[in-house]
Amino acid sequence: MSKVIEVNHPLIQHKITLIRDKHTGSKDFRQLVKEVSMLLGYEITRDLPLEEVEIETPIMKTKSKMLSGKKLGIIPILRAGLGMVDGILELIPAAKVGHIGLYRDPETLKPVEYYCKLPADVGERELIVVDPMLATGGSAAAAINFLKDRGATNIKLVNLIASPEGIAEVQKMHPDVDIYVASIDEKLNDHGYIVPGLGDAGDRLYGTK
Ligand code: URA
Repeated sequence: MSKVIEVNHPLIQHKITLIRDKHTGSKDFRQLVKEVSMLLGYEITRDLPLEEVEIETPIMKTKSKMLSGKKLGIIPILRAGLGMVDGILELIPAAKVGHIGLYRDPETLKPVEYYCKLPADVGERELIVVDPMLATGGSAAAAINFLKDRGATNIKLVNLIASPEGIAEVQKMHPDVDIYVASIDEKLNDHGYIVPGLGDAGDRLYGTK
């Protein structure tokens, strides 16, 4: 079974409170989502492998550690996932970014891919799938399916706020994918919104209705 890591650092919790507040406008909301994503990035990258390299400081030759291993890819689920990309890219500027767009078929209620543009070597990368809200888990599970169909084997899912239902769905469909989240909320309401949540993340990021 995959791990669920609730990253409850005080700075993250403070910023999540501001993000939840309905009086926070789009400009601040975007900035806060970026900042929380960056802070989550610190935790997501905690287990990246290191190798010792030899360098020369102004004082002497020494051995010091640098990242080794797989290259990274950040995969936002459109549209709200875009808001989390820049914060993580500030920490990992060499990461490639792939995009997945999904909509729900009104008849089958199943997620359908309408856009998918990924790094060519997606199968060799460690992938970080980002979406601010893990609600039913349907989109995240489908996006991870699409990535696995294209050869991805090493995937982490990162959300700001998750419902217990969404976590259970992703864990059921993808027991190999660890989930990083700033807050696990109470439940989903009858309209599929997370309670207490923050409303519609895409609308709040981009000032739409
Ligand atoms: N998507 C959102 O943007 N908000 C929710 O509460 C659930 C899904």
